[in-house]
Amino acid sequence: MKHLKHPFTQAVLLIVGSWAFFKFVIPLFPGSAPVPQSVVLQFTLIAAVGVLVYVSENEERWTQFKAPITATLVDANKKWLRGGLLTVIPLFIGFVVFQAARPTVGSTAQLRSIHPAPPGQITFQGRSLALEGLENPLRSRGSLEEHYETGKAIYYQNCMPCHGDLLDGQGHFGHGFNPTPLAFDRAGTIDNLQESFVFWRIAKGGPGLPREGTPWNSAMPVWEDFLTEDEIWAVTMFLYEQSGLEPRTWGEEGEEHD
Ligand code: HEC
Repeated sequence: MKHLKHPFTQAVLLIVGSWAFFKFVIPLFPGSAPVPQSVVLQFTLIAAVGVLVYVSENEERWTQFKAPITATLVDANKKWLRGGLLTVIPLFIGFVVFQAARPTVGSTAQLRSIHPAPPGQITFQGRSLALEGLENPLRSRGSLEEHYETGKAIYYQNCMPCHGDLLDGQGHFGHGFNPTPLAFDRAGTIDNLQESFVFWRIAKGGPGLPREGTPWNSAMPVWEDFLTEDEIWAVTMFLYEQSGLEPRTWGEEGEEHD
């Protein structure tokens, strides 16, 4: 009981108590969600500042508060305790940092469909657009050569950092994402897809994936926010021309979709 009266013990209890309050009690209030770790840490630090203000507010309490700290750091007979703390605390912090920074390779909880079925119709830049039976309009308009060049410029300006110089999904940033950016350079990739599917994926990106495409942590941007309809068709055409693959046509509808 004598210990409970000591300002040092009180301070430690108050700080630990407020941490436990933010971490475990706040989520119990109706309508509140678990508090993110970083916020718990911030609140606890603020509480710790308050506690320090309290213990240092009066000279006598401050001296009492400091006494055990000074004793541990200075007294000759506390050498072992001091050495132990100076070893254990840095090791603990190192361990926590290591745990937080360590890359983890966990399998996703559900099976994720890489090519989920596209919706029959989408809203593209505020207009509704039927995907069913939709062909790349640029294939029957203007010069293929020009569309290819347009698509190429768009690809290298926007897509290369993730999907790679060689369309192999190995862009500079590619390895940092999970799911990783998809490759377009070999059979079994976009040759399984209709051009309208590719258009849809480019236009709507990761956030536009339907439920089978979850988890929705795909880094693929929503390109309808940055590119026009023709630009998306042009880059789609570029992907096929560059990889030498043929888009799947609507005639093959009966086949199994993967
Ligand atoms: C920030 C990184 C990033 C950028 C930039 C990016 N993508 Fe992606 N893309 C991804 C990731 C990650 C995936 C795989 C996950 C998914 O399917 O959403 C993906 C998937 C795709 C798919 C789906 C392919 C399939 O087989 O289903 C297409 C098509 C695509 N990207 C085209 C593009 C085009 C075209 C651009 C440039 C206009 C582009 N991406 C820019 C990250 C990116």
